[in-house]
Amino acid sequence: MAEHTYDVIVIGSGAAGLTAAINLAEHCRVAVIAKGALSDGSTAWAQGGIAAVLEPGDTFDSHIEDTMVAGAGLNNRATVEFVVENAPAAIERLAALGVPFNPGGEDERWHLTREGGHSHRRIVHVDDATGWAVQQALEAAAKANPNITLIPDMVVIDLVTGRHGERYSGEGHVWGVYACNRRTGRVELFTGRATILATGGAGRTYLYSTAPRGATGDGIAMAWRAGCRISNMEFMQFHPTCLYNLEVKNFLITEAVRGEGGHLLIPETGHRFMPDFDSRAELAPRDVVARAIDHEIKRLGLDYVHLDISHRPEEFVKEHFPNIYEKLLGLGIDMTKEPIPVVPAQHYTCGGVVVDLDGRTDLPGLYAAGEVTQSGLHGANRLASNSLLECFVFGEAAARHIIANWEDLPEPPPIRPWDESRVTDSDEEVIVAHNWREIRRFMWDYVGIVRTTKRLERAAHRVQLLRQEVEDYYGNFRVAPDLIELRNLIEVANLIVRSALHRKESRGLHYTLDYPTTLPQAIDTILVP
Ligand code: FAD
Ligand code: SIN
Repeated sequence: MAEHTYDVIVIGSGAAGLTAAINLAEHCRVAVIAKGALSDGSTAWAQGGIAAVLEPGDTFDSHIEDTMVAGAGLNNRATVEFVVENAPAAIERLAALGVPFNPGGEDERWHLTREGGHSHRRIVHVDDATGWAVQQALEAAAKANPNITLIPDMVVIDLVTGRHGERYSGEGHVWGVYACNRRTGRVELFTGRATILATGGAGRTYLYSTAPRGATGDGIAMAWRAGCRISNMEFMQFHPTCLYNLEVKNFLITEAVRGEGGHLLIPETGHRFMPDFDSRAELAPRDVVARAIDHEIKRLGLDYVHLDISHRPEEFVKEHFPNIYEKLLGLGIDMTKEPIPVVPAQHYTCGGVVVDLDGRTDLPGLYAAGEVTQSGLHGANRLASNSLLECFVFGEAAARHIIANWEDLPEPPPIRPWDESRVTDSDEEVIVAHNWREIRRFMWDYVGIVRTTKRLERAAHRVQLLRQEVEDYYGNFRVAPDLIELRNLIEVANLIVRSALHRKESRGLHYTLDYPTTLPQAIDTILVP
């Protein structure tokens, strides 16, 4: 088995992982592992932008308040303050790395757009493709740094913990990872004094999601198996406006379209329905808008609703949304002249691995940052454009803590090689493909935007059956990327369903017809392995 030793192992090459690596590399040697190409994560797909208090008249208090309102009071105020107050500096650092944020007018350095739930213009952006620009800048900085080794096509299977050491450490310390090299199919070992999980979200647990193919919740499942607490997994965010198209299934239409005046309409009648649901209309937080669309689609038996910005000047629309305009034009929709068919789709994983303000998890040597975590920032519903921000702030915080505590992080002990002596090559690939589809279908049907206890119990039953089947399969056959992801998907589905069944109220993104009211006290769901 190939073995590699670095000072720190970072799993994930998106905003969180690369931010951590760039900060660490001033002091130590870092390996950044990605399971596909470096820019395959959600970061490169982000459209709208990054939230920060930059507008004259805006205040940290207002950004904090908006975040807590969207989060339905479940947020940890200390985390919200920490992230919001560090936002302007994070934007400055990105600009210094070369992210070409759209410039503002006379008294504004950058152009700020607006999104749902924000009471000010607060979103810096690079046209409607902010994530791509951020990913390119971070990758360029990482590639230029001799202390960073970028390792694509390496699918991490599991964390190496005390139980993999030749001597049992007894303290659950994390020493690195076992990973499957996509190019050779062989398992390799990466060890370091510290490991950072920056593996992104679990959107692909659902049939329809705006997230990329690799968003299978690997980091959440690995951390759970290793012994970390996982929190608030019932709060899966559904973005209100994913393009409805039979060919292109996961193209997001940024919230900034509504921020710049887009209306949601019933296709047949042209009725603008959001004011019937909320005084903030199209700019209400996402959970409210997604639920309203879901309600209208089910009530009227529609396939989709319309998002219309054709009342704004043609040049304005093209200038603000050049990539979306081109993409839609290629599909025969001219958004300057006609409405866009949209449906809600899974978009963001608010829950995840419990971390503190230094990005520390429950296990010594293991840190986490970005969408894989539950840091206390988002509560029961993430405020738009707060998630890239969380990646920058926590990626840096984790790096800072590792550097400050370097002397207390021991060298890894000898680690047992991966044992493949009792497995064979799979002869039934159909099981993996079938189970992938089955999980995503029942999660969509039974654990979606509006829930009931009966449907959640049905989902729990299916999870148990599939979990057993996947574990048997995993125990008998050689690991391969699809199987690794399937094992994680079913683990994450299990955590989501358990958390949803546990919450006996409706709050933020968790809405159940059996408990429609919100309880007076906001309490995190925390699952302990
Ligand atoms: P990611 O960028 O998803 O990166 C995950 C990394 O982990 C990848 O490199 C992947 O290869 C690696 N990885 C995962 N599993 C393994 C494994 N087993 N082995 C090895 N490597 C692994 N947020 C905003 O704030 N503003 C926006 O405008 C915005 N728009 C969005 C638009 C879309 C379409 C989507 C899907 C999300 C959007 N979000 C937005 C959310 C935001 O993009 C993500 O929350 C954020 O990019 C997550 O970054 P991350 O670094 O945590 O993970
Ligand atoms: C969007 O552009 O609508 C996505 C913003 C986000 O997810 O924060």
